[in-house]
Amino acid sequence: LAKVEVNLADIPEGKNAVFKWRGKPLFVRHRGTDEIEREQAVDINILRHQETDDERVKKPEWLVTIGVCTHLGCVPIANQGEYGGYYCPCHGSHYDASGRIRKGPAPLNLEIPPYEFTPGNTVIIG
Ligand code: FES
Repeated sequence: LAKVEVNLADIPEGKNAVFKWRGKPLFVRHRGTDEIEREQAVDINILRHQETDDERVKKPEWLVTIGVCTHLGCVPIANQGEYGGYYCPCHGSHYDASGRIRKGPAPLNLEIPPYEFTPGNTVIIG
């Protein structure tokens, strides 16, 4: 009931697929090399909520987050905003491709749910 299984083969590079988990939007983003390198290179000292990209992903190619803006709970739009990740149109929060808040009123990075990869190229959330 509380778990969702996602087939990673269905999500091409560059796409942010949206699922539902425990009544909330769930984002599974297939990141390309450019995006991975850009996020790994960010100096966390400039971040409002200081987390390295490594701390936020289990495999660099896959970002798994809850798709709920940490300001007042709108659903951010993928591949928009000034940092190439997500943009929340409600009050203008910009997130990067690691789901970290970079600009705007949101206080925290997008939340990471519990998840595990399986040998069958799926990820189980929950
Ligand atoms: Fe996202 Fe306010 S709810 S910026």
